Amino acid sequence: MTQFTSDRLLLFGATGDLSRRMLLPSLCALDAEGLLGPNIEIIGTARSDLDDQGFRNFAREALEQFLPAQRRGGMAQFLNRLSYQPLDANDIDSFHALAQKVGTPKQGLSIFLSTAPSLFEPTIHGLEKSGLACENVRIGLEKPLGIDLESSKVINDAVAHAFPEDRIYRIDHYLGKETVQNLLALRFANLMFEPLWNAAHIDHVQITVAETVGLESRVAYYDDSGALRDMVQNHMLQLLALVAMEPPVSYNATSIRNEKVKVLHSLRKVKPEETVTGQYRAGAIGGKAVPGYDDELGKDSNTETFVAIKAHIDNWRWQGVPFYMRTGKRMPKRTTEIVVQFRDVPHSIFHGRGAKTVPNRLVIGIQPEENITLSLMAKVPGLDRDGYGLRSVPLAILTPDAFADRQRRIAYERLLLDLIEGDQTLFVRRDEVEAQWEWIDAIRAVWEEQEQEPRTYTAGSWGPSAAIALAERDGVTWHE
Ligand code: BG6
Repeated sequence: MTQFTSDRLLLFGATGDLSRRMLLPSLCALDAEGLLGPNIEIIGTARSDLDDQGFRNFAREALEQFLPAQRRGGMAQFLNRLSYQPLDANDIDSFHALAQKVGTPKQGLSIFLSTAPSLFEPTIHGLEKSGLACENVRIGLEKPLGIDLESSKVINDAVAHAFPEDRIYRIDHYLGKETVQNLLALRFANLMFEPLWNAAHIDHVQITVAETVGLESRVAYYDDSGALRDMVQNHMLQLLALVAMEPPVSYNATSIRNEKVKVLHSLRKVKPEETVTGQYRAGAIGGKAVPGYDDELGKDSNTETFVAIKAHIDNWRWQGVPFYMRTGKRMPKRTTEIVVQFRDVPHSIFHGRGAKTVPNRLVIGIQPEENITLSLMAKVPGLDRDGYGLRSVPLAILTPDAFADRQRRIAYERLLLDLIEGDQTLFVRRDEVEAQWEWIDAIRAVWEEQEQEPRTYTAGSWGPSAAIALAERDGVTWHE
């Protein structure tokens, strides 16, 4: 791992949506707490023809819109750290001008690339040619990194030509979420889960990432992508890997990524009947009417806005345990959660008394708020003359207010700081991304072979009924 703390940060795509909503607010919040170091300089670059002051105005508006007022204390100091250089990624002279603007960092430079995929290669080339890819430089890459294994390899090869893997930081912003990191604490800082965390004691796992939003303003990107590439290839597979991986030796980039990639390599090829795709039609969410996908897009499309998958991990620990995953736009509520369904007790001593046991279930709510609950069986108080009373009761392991005194952070605060300081633990390694694509490509190939078209579902519902059937065929009900 390269150990230097960058004193310059170069943001590509600095006038884009991600920058406005996430990057600039995160950086400003970090700076206000003195976490970026006293001398950090932030250089923005993009196509837009702005000067330093124009970029500062852009940033001010973004901060006013997306950073809560109580975190804007250091705004004036932060804006002063910003400068801007317009860039045409296909013009090498443009990169020389950028290199001049960046100057020579005293300690090191971090680059954050959030640009259209078609600009990745020319950008890397330009960085190399203009001397911006030297030893004390690391690079962060925002998704999408390709649309399949082949195109991701092209991007990864181009980046690898200019930067060694230990200076490449592939972003999956789910790993920056505190609640996702807490999965590691839950599993590996407690004694009681790990001995049960296997096929002998777990019946199945569910992973749901539901969103209420539709296409938003991302028409071109989303319609070429679809839910499988947009959400499953990255975020959901990372969640699955964190749930399923073996205990890493230590909390560091190599150990954790070694374990995750083994899980990704163990994913079984999905059969046609193990996936369901859907596309939303007009409906209502929270009492508000919303248009269908085709209407938002302005044309007919076969892109899936929902996908449900029954996945299997072919290794010793997880043999025979299905991982049901589903994600969709225009669902009834925004929620990301993982459900670990344990098996029933092997023998119930209460059977003769007419009482049934309900298998334990761990529900790990990741967003909108962290909420971890374990359902346990308890005796219903009473003299039991009408039969023995047992009931499943929730044990709250973590409630949303458990750490009410701690600042809730944007995932990018963590990731940008780790990039600047050089900690790769929460970034995705090349072999992980490629294993993810390999599994996703095989699913797409099955869809194409079967000429599978998305089924329709009403906006505000939990997806097509076939997705419910996918789980119910196995006697499993999605947790809602
Ligand atoms: C992005 C996807 O990676 O994640 C979006 O491209 C999606 O389509 C977003 O809306 C969800 O992120 P979060 O943090 O709101 O769950």
